[in-house]
Amino acid sequence: MFLVSACSLLWFAAAGENNVESYQDKVVTLPPLPPLSTNEQFYEPTVRLHHSGVLAMLAGAVKQAEDMEQPQVVVVVDASGEVLGEIRMTGSKFLSRKSALAKARTAASINNSSHNVPAHVASELSAATQGAITSLMGGLPVRVEGILVGGVGVGSGHGFQDLVVAQAALAAAGADRVE
Ligand SMILES: *[C@@H]1O[C@H](CO)[C@@H](O)[C@H](O)[C@H]1NC(C)=O
Ligand SMILES: *[C@@H]1O[C@H](CO)[C@@H](O)[C@H](O)[C@H]1NC(C)=O
Repeated sequence: MFLVSACSLLWFAAAGENNVESYQDKVVTLPPLPPLSTNEQFYEPTVRLHHSGVLAMLAGAVKQAEDMEQPQVVVVVDASGEVLGEIRMTGSKFLSRKSALAKARTAASINNSSHNVPAHVASELSAATQGAITSLMGGLPVRVEGILVGGVGVGSGHGFQDLVVAQAALAAAGADRVE
């Protein structure tokens, strides 16, 4: 059955040569695909946040929050915005888990502090991402020697308190300082 079909196809190909020519102007010719094995630009080396770094960040943040006597929620995400670690300190607001997560994911997504989301597009970006992006203060990108490895978000205090606690998290893991 397969042989018969294959032969018919060959016959059609031969008989239809003229037809192919008449369709030529309608055919878009694509450039040949380069072989995968010779294309190193398809891949790049990565640096990732280890769980020991996440623990250090959470501990550094909690220490700073305790010193300020402001219970906080702290969320650490990887460069894709997936949660690696989180702590809700005793006395912090439970809904701050949502804002702290949004801050961390925003920072990881834009590779910048959440408060640097331009004000004139902040609410539209928030709506377009179902609240994933926020311009609230307290979200910082986690970078190691300029390489983005994640984000940290802090919520439950005032904006400036959240920011200082997030900075303490970065410092505790030896990450680049971010304003
Ligand atoms: C972060 O945002 C600030 C303010 O818009 C800008 O000056 C800075 O270049 C941004 N940083 C990065 C790494 O994009
Ligand atoms: C993030 O920003 C830093 C600092 O400007 C830069 O070195 C790095 O290349 C950026 N990373 C990405 C993934 O955009």
